[in-house]
Amino acid sequence: MKEQIEQIKENSIKELSNAKDLKELNDLKVKYLGKKGELTQVLKTMGTLSTEERPIIGSLVNKVRDELNELIENKEKQLKQIELNQKLEKEKIDVTLPASKNKRGSKHPLNRVIEEIEDLFVSMGYDVVDGPELETDEYCFERLNLPKGHPARDMQDSFYITTEYLLRTQTSAVQARVMMANKEKTPIRVIVPGKTYRREDDATHSHQFNQVEGLVIDENITLAHLKGTLEVFMRKLLGENTQLRFRPSYFPFTEPSYEVDVSCFKCGGKGCNLCKQTGWIELLGAGMVHPNVLKMNGYDPEKYTGFAFGTGLDRLAMFKYGITDMRYLYRNDVRFLTQFDQMDT
Ligand code: DAH
Repeated sequence: MKEQIEQIKENSIKELSNAKDLKELNDLKVKYLGKKGELTQVLKTMGTLSTEERPIIGSLVNKVRDELNELIENKEKQLKQIELNQKLEKEKIDVTLPASKNKRGSKHPLNRVIEEIEDLFVSMGYDVVDGPELETDEYCFERLNLPKGHPARDMQDSFYITTEYLLRTQTSAVQARVMMANKEKTPIRVIVPGKTYRREDDATHSHQFNQVEGLVIDENITLAHLKGTLEVFMRKLLGENTQLRFRPSYFPFTEPSYEVDVSCFKCGGKGCNLCKQTGWIELLGAGMVHPNVLKMNGYDPEKYTGFAFGTGLDRLAMFKYGITDMRYLYRNDVRFLTQFDQMDT
């Protein structure tokens, strides 16, 4: 029996040291030391031995078992280390590989312009407000000194929903809303960016477009304030060298009224195809708030004066970014939109 044990020991040591991986090692552990393992089988036959032999064989089996256990433990450590090394080798990170980029969305050029304008006016103490796109005739026209039947209503072809409701044709509607909402009739300084709608169907106009409105009401507001404000506005947006030109015009809600041209930023005023050789581009409507408008919306024209302006954001964005066709703004073509990611603003 001693020889049998020695034989088992010899075989197992040989096999164990040849084990190539943890699975094989585990199988060998079962083969020799498991419940039905070879060494365990030997222990089970101990009963057939004489009393003298039993302790000798017993302690021999125990010794071999301890030796094998130790061997297995060491081998296990060794194999684990080898596996780890292989894994590390395989999973080596090549830090020189280019990183995989996350695709980000792009800001629409219109939103870029709106955000820039908002930042500028907020820095000058203005609030940014909005109003409903489905507007009443009262706020869109009547409270702006445009009673029903007024010929100037023809300046804007409107989408009427009912006789009282329409899609607002101008952000000017929010002027009246802000004045009416201000119950204490305190000074006002707001801009209103937003969507507007008109029944236009030619190539350079869209039935839906965007405007930004400005309204300031306070004591002693003069035309000089309007000129200074629009100068800052246009120079910040289109470049420091931009010149402004005020042409007398007519709007029912302002008196006096102006159309404001900016010097062509493409040719600097020399004349080119963009400005149709005039050197100027018409960009804003503006004026001093009509006393009737102040009165109709609860402000005392003897105490307060104000100025207002409005401009089309689509045209502004087109000029600023050199976009030649307005329809690009509404097509949501990702190739078009991502171009603006490279720009600062
Ligand atoms: N609402 C005018 C338009 O859509 C633009 C405008 C003109 C706005 C003069 C104003 C203003 O605030 O004072 O054509």
